[in-house]
Amino acid sequence: MSKDDSRMWGGRFSEPTDEFVQAFTASVGFDQRLAQADIEGSGAHAMMLKRIGVLDAGELKAIKQGLEQIRAEIETGRFEWSVALEDVHMNIEARLTALIGDAGKKLHTGRSRNDQVATDIRLYLRDQIGHCRHGIRAFQQGLLDLAEREAHTILPGFTHLQVAQPVSFGHHMLAWFEMLERDHGRLGDCARRMNQMPLGSAALAGTSYQLDREYTAELLGFDIPCRNSIDAVSDRDFVIEFCAAAAICMTHLSRMAEELVLWSSAQFDFVRLPDRYCTGSSIMPQKKNPDVAELVRGKAGRAAGHLVNLLVLMKAQPLSYNKDNQEDKEPLFDTLDTLIGSVRAFADMVPALEVNREKMYQAAQQGYATATDLADYLVKKGAAFRDAHEAVGNAVAFAIDQGKDLGACKLKELRQFDQRIEDDVFDVLTLEGSLNARNITGGTAPAQVLIQVEAGREMIED
Ligand code: ARG
Repeated sequence: MSKDDSRMWGGRFSEPTDEFVQAFTASVGFDQRLAQADIEGSGAHAMMLKRIGVLDAGELKAIKQGLEQIRAEIETGRFEWSVALEDVHMNIEARLTALIGDAGKKLHTGRSRNDQVATDIRLYLRDQIGHCRHGIRAFQQGLLDLAEREAHTILPGFTHLQVAQPVSFGHHMLAWFEMLERDHGRLGDCARRMNQMPLGSAALAGTSYQLDREYTAELLGFDIPCRNSIDAVSDRDFVIEFCAAAAICMTHLSRMAEELVLWSSAQFDFVRLPDRYCTGSSIMPQKKNPDVAELVRGKAGRAAGHLVNLLVLMKAQPLSYNKDNQEDKEPLFDTLDTLIGSVRAFADMVPALEVNREKMYQAAQQGYATATDLADYLVKKGAAFRDAHEAVGNAVAFAIDQGKDLGACKLKELRQFDQRIEDDVFDVLTLEGSLNARNITGGTAPAQVLIQVEAGREMIED
């Protein structure tokens, strides 16, 4: 039986790989995305091999030039990917040897695809996390500007989706800002923790060549070489951790999306989304649908699914490397695309919201949103809070019965519920009075919102 010479491990095999199996086991269709990281890793590995005397200067030069040519071929779409060569690593190595001859065959000294792929994913993901965090910062910047602009805009605040207390619209935007701040931090933690270099772990046990791993790590910007070769080739925690952070961030975006969908409906009409972020209906001419917000809400499901996929992929896998782990890439790549795209869409769309201040103000006037303020007023006049709560509850029932808001009741009517109520009560029953009263750190008074906007600006200056 003739040998299939394109296989880099064909030596011990007596028949070619079944064609279906070749396609089934190949990852080159998707792991091409690691190509630039693979070239970077190989370049550093080659420099280290020269330093320890495995390569001479001429061989290193040839390898570097070959890798640069391959990089250019890939960037311009001229590179011919081969499924027979299984994955990105062997495609690039085979091309290198075709270009430069024997020097290319020395590159794999002291290296296995197991430590190679683990290194490539880290290099790639480290870079991509940078993009994610950058996008989050841009969105946060937009939220701060919007919060500043709308610090005095009054929104009915909800709990249980029932009108609760009036809040500043800017304050609500800063709640979104805080969620993103934690997401940004989580992604940073993940990038920091994964910044250790597997190269030199080889297949699983390390290598008998005296590699200078510290040098390679320094060239590639890793903090240290991984301390345990078995762990280094087995570990995909960092992919799981990234996908967990991404799934949480997408969950946050889905909550924002849901509010945007509600608020932009005719029934709420609190905000208008920019036309360039909406679509129409092919049958109903009046429609303007919040598709982007809906899609982001839906895509949160994808990110959560990928996280579960990876957890199950890793569950009960024996150490060290197993081919199962080739399955880590598609969920990872799709999570990255989903997160980066969603954050970008919101960073552009949300600051461009048209805020319907009047509509929100009217809505805040309707739900007895200042009832807590009346209770607090009574407490300040000497009532116990529980008694005040009861009295105000009765007053609200009366007002509902009369079909009007608390602020529209006459002093005489309100005094039926507590004799301590006087003329000054009308100050606390206004929406503005309610907001301004909450002038405490983290509270919704516009003065506090503006303080938090300034604090936010300092936070995002990294
Ligand atoms: N394509 C493989 C992966 O993504 C590379 C490592 C394969 N190693 C091996 N010994 N088969 O996991």
